[in-house]
Amino acid sequence: MVAGRQVWLFPLFVALALAATAAEAGGLGMLVVLLQLLLAGPNEVQSGGAVVDFVRSVTITLVGNSVMAIAFATVSLIMAKSLMMAAYQILSAHVNASVNDRFRRLAFRRLMEAEYGKLVRRDSGSFQNLITGESMRATEALGVVSQLLVNICSLIVFFIMLLLISWQLVVVMVLGTFAAYVVSTLFGGKARQAGQVVTNTHALLATRLESVLSGLRMVRIFGAEEREIQRFNAYSEALRQGFMRVQLLKAATGPISDTFYLCVFVGIVGVSSQIHLPLASVITFVLIVARLQPHVKDTHWCRVQLSGLGSAVDSMAEFLREFPGRGASAKGKRFEGLSDHIRFHHVAFSYGVDQEPTLSGISFTIQKKKTTAIVGGSGAGKSTLINLLLRLYEPSSGCISADEQPIDEFDVASWRARFALAGQDAELLDGTILENVCYGRPSASLQDAEAAAERAGILEFIRGLPCTWDTRVGGRGVRLSGGQRQRLGIARAMLREPDLLILDEATNSLDSLTEAEVQGAIEAMAGKTTLVVIAHKLSTVMSADQVIVLRGGKIEEQGTPRQLLKRAGHFRRLYGATG
Ligand SMILES: Nc1ncnc2c1ncn2[C@@H]1O[C@H](COP(=O)(O)OP(=O)(O)OP(=O)(O)O)[C@@H](O)[C@H]1O
Ligand SMILES: [Mg+2]
Repeated sequence: MVAGRQVWLFPLFVALALAATAAEAGGLGMLVVLLQLLLAGPNEVQSGGAVVDFVRSVTITLVGNSVMAIAFATVSLIMAKSLMMAAYQILSAHVNASVNDRFRRLAFRRLMEAEYGKLVRRDSGSFQNLITGESMRATEALGVVSQLLVNICSLIVFFIMLLLISWQLVVVMVLGTFAAYVVSTLFGGKARQAGQVVTNTHALLATRLESVLSGLRMVRIFGAEEREIQRFNAYSEALRQGFMRVQLLKAATGPISDTFYLCVFVGIVGVSSQIHLPLASVITFVLIVARLQPHVKDTHWCRVQLSGLGSAVDSMAEFLREFPGRGASAKGKRFEGLSDHIRFHHVAFSYGVDQEPTLSGISFTIQKKKTTAIVGGSGAGKSTLINLLLRLYEPSSGCISADEQPIDEFDVASWRARFALAGQDAELLDGTILENVCYGRPSASLQDAEAAAERAGILEFIRGLPCTWDTRVGGRGVRLSGGQRQRLGIARAMLREPDLLILDEATNSLDSLTEAEVQGAIEAMAGKTTLVVIAHKLSTVMSADQVIVLRGGKIEEQGTPRQLLKRAGHFRRLYGATG
């Protein structure tokens, strides 16, 4: 598990806790001996019961009979206990911080390695909440477990001492504590439910916030600010109520357990007068019970806290189970590059088990160093076909092969390393222009980046910016125009120098002049690189070696552009409409 290396620290926690409790118990015993000596004055000290007499004889043997020496030893023991507890706290904070760090890293790695289709099905806000919030709460739970362990050790030591003094008083105390336990269990269950509600609401709020922030322009244009504020306020209010409920439950545990302890105290006084226990023993018992109280309270608190944090541990565990990372599924040989062709054999695909197939009966061949154009109306399944080629999704049936070997036999990373994509939406990341252009080839030099930008028709624009290549593009590239983003996307794809370049309507936001320029650069790659081009403007696919015409997820026609133009088919109709 994530806590792996830190687990060996647990015995150390227990040892520290036992030593601290022993020091505290010893200090308490000596305090009673000190009181006995002060009360007796010059007279002989009377017996205080077996335990007290034993502690007195040990104290006198070790420290001597002097009041000052015993006082000094008492203070030293209590100081030693405080120092050990401080050491425990530092150690525990260290474990907490490192486990939290490892949790976060592991969760992010799993997210990066997760199957794309699974990621898309879940809200991105829930992942954010998980990695920033829930992982922290889950580690907090680990800290609470160690605290619980420490408290239990202290309770055991004190309990043995109490039993040695008087079992009758222990019965009174146990009955009281049991009643407190029952009540706190009831509260624990409620706190767990309330904690789950807070977690869920927090995820909803984070998702909404993220989608509103990424769609700020739409919110403004459609005048939806007030609506979004209302919706956000509703989530925020639900979160406030949930938080208050958890806090109320936590706050209630204090007064309730105090009431129980007061009853226990009255019971102890009553029973000890009945059984004629020596005063020194009663004082020692009460002192220990008083010291026991914070430990019992702490144990209750830990339990309630654990119930609240349990939901975070559950969601982290569920996440780690759902996203097992690449380790489990790493397989396949290295893809060393295409020798001749990629072939789709009767491929069908649907995005969900209960959804209509988005693609069906897809069979065609992409020849190396040739240009394949895929055309078809909006929603025909063109981008889906590319998703399958890039192995973001697996076909539901049929198979895609490269040089007659099924592509799922290749290691995914080595497969994708041969591809580059410039898409409908350039999908830039927050960072500088240089970082974005070099994203597919981080080792590229500035000269290479400039050459790619030149071919994508964006170099002049970049040079004209106040910070040139160091200009930040903003989240998703919001500080750039659609066409500028698209050209950066093309430069990024070209800089990767892929064996297979996929252009999914990569120039649809450009004006005709710029588009012609970029098209020229793309056409110059034809014959050297395998190109897969998707375009609505059919004039741009006229130079392709073959055209695949998709309609409703099926291949309607395929052939060279000239062959297809001669037929009075779907291609001709599309061409007539947009060419
Ligand atoms: N992640 C997804 N989950 C479920 N359905 C999806 C998903 N992505 C696309 N679809 C559906 O699959 C169908 C094909 O979508 P696709 O993006 O492949 O179309 P396209 O041919 O690229 O269209 P366009 O020219 O508009 O880009 C559409 O009906 C779309 O609603
Ligand atoms: Mg598309």
